[in-house]
Amino acid sequence: MKIIYQQVIAFFAVITLTILLLGFSFSRLAKSFVYDTTWSRLENYSDSVVEQSLQTKNNKVTFNPTSLSTTEGILNGQDSDFTMYAPSKKAFYPQGNKNSTIAANDWKRLKKGQMIRKVNRGNEIDKHQSKKRSEMVEILKPYYYQKKLVAVVAVGTYTSELEANLSRINSNLILALILSLIVSLIISFAFAHRLNRRISVLRDAVNQVIQGHYKIRLQSGNRDEIDDLTNDFNHMTDTLENADSEIKRQEERRQEFLADAAHEMRTPLTTINGILEGFKYGVIPEDSRDKSLNLMMSETQRLIRLVNENLDYEKIRSKSIKLNRTHFNATDVLYQLQEQLSGKAQASNDEIIIKAPDKLPIYADYDRFVQVLVNIITNGIQFTDNGTITVTAKRENNLDVFDITDTGIGMSEEQMKNIFERYYKADASRRSGKYGESGLGLAIVHQLIEQHGGTIKVVSKLGKGTTFSLTFPNEDNYPK
Ligand SMILES: Nc1ncnc2c1ncn2[C@@H]1O[C@H](COP(=O)(O)OP(=O)(O)OP(=O)(O)O)[C@@H](O)[C@H]1O
Ligand SMILES: [Mg+2]
Repeated sequence: MKIIYQQVIAFFAVITLTILLLGFSFSRLAKSFVYDTTWSRLENYSDSVVEQSLQTKNNKVTFNPTSLSTTEGILNGQDSDFTMYAPSKKAFYPQGNKNSTIAANDWKRLKKGQMIRKVNRGNEIDKHQSKKRSEMVEILKPYYYQKKLVAVVAVGTYTSELEANLSRINSNLILALILSLIVSLIISFAFAHRLNRRISVLRDAVNQVIQGHYKIRLQSGNRDEIDDLTNDFNHMTDTLENADSEIKRQEERRQEFLADAAHEMRTPLTTINGILEGFKYGVIPEDSRDKSLNLMMSETQRLIRLVNENLDYEKIRSKSIKLNRTHFNATDVLYQLQEQLSGKAQASNDEIIIKAPDKLPIYADYDRFVQVLVNIITNGIQFTDNGTITVTAKRENNLDVFDITDTGIGMSEEQMKNIFERYYKADASRRSGKYGESGLGLAIVHQLIEQHGGTIKVVSKLGKGTTFSLTFPNEDNYPK
């Protein structure tokens, strides 16, 4: 069943039940109120009948018939009448009413001084009146003089008027019930309709998402659960949109890499193939053989490096390598690297400068630490001609901090964004560099530093130079 109908039915059922219960108890209350006031009125009549007519003489009690008949006239005007009984149970007023009797049970209670409230139906009426009326409300009240029962007064009135009042109240109630049911039906329908519309909007939006439109966002008023759901939906489309663009980016990068890798591999493979053919057909002169073999070897090494770095990156990324951390002096490593890379630096007319304290204890995987610094310093050399690559190392709080600054070509903001991505090269013109760039160096560095619990940041200015800042936490702060 549609939610709209479920809601209308539920709403309607609750309201109907509430109104019925209220109506029922109100009708009961009205009825008992009407009867109570009638009984009190009759009691007042009875008191005034006795007050007006009671006469005492020598301790003898009589009732003045003239007063009684005056009161009777007044009461008749009120659509009520009364009968007076002597202690002997006999009715003595009005005269023609001698047959009226009081039931033995009632009489017992009257003698105990209790007043009786009654509603007489059907036949009982005939005892008091020859006129047939539907129902009579009556009280019987005993009166005492000097602790002796002197009379019982029965005052009655016909219920037709009461009933008319009650049925008017009831019919008003029914009208109110019907009206409120109609109003509640309209309100519940309007509510359900509104809710339904809001759900439909969400559903349409979800369908759009299914069709791949992740840009869709819905307005939320932050009022209720549907708004919460809308917020969650917006959050979801945010995430989906980001994930989607990330996937697209990755895919572009992958395609770029495939093209790059194919390109990178084709050059050494073509070279190797050419040399091999030369050997086969004996066209390589004897004195060039060594040169050709060396060329073949360096090209093969280039290929091996490309393959190895890819494998290495995957291993690090999937966390399947284990860091073998040891304590050593980082400054020693820096000077070794200065020595080791000086050849490359000189080829670009660069100078490597080390600024470090004599002792800079570090707790890291030695080989991986060397790998990180070689990568970054090599990049510096690669992108700097006739400049300097300065490595500053220091201990700051609980961190070993290394800043590698070059005075090279630098990068734009846009280029810096992606340098830690695999296969990324800031621009195509940088591809055919001296050291066989595959765009994997910084991606590997980034993963390695992350696994050491450290950080890497880059600041660069196009044409001015670049600084990479690395931190390595000391032993106490390593991730467990
Ligand atoms: N010091 C630097 N100055 C200017 N650009 C840099 C510097 N370091 C990195 N880059 C840019 O970031 C890109 C990614 O660097 P990364 O080291 O990951 O790859 P690569 O040096 O091109 O290849 P690989 O290091 O795998 O041989 C580089 O291609 C270059 O465009
Ligand atoms: Mg590099």
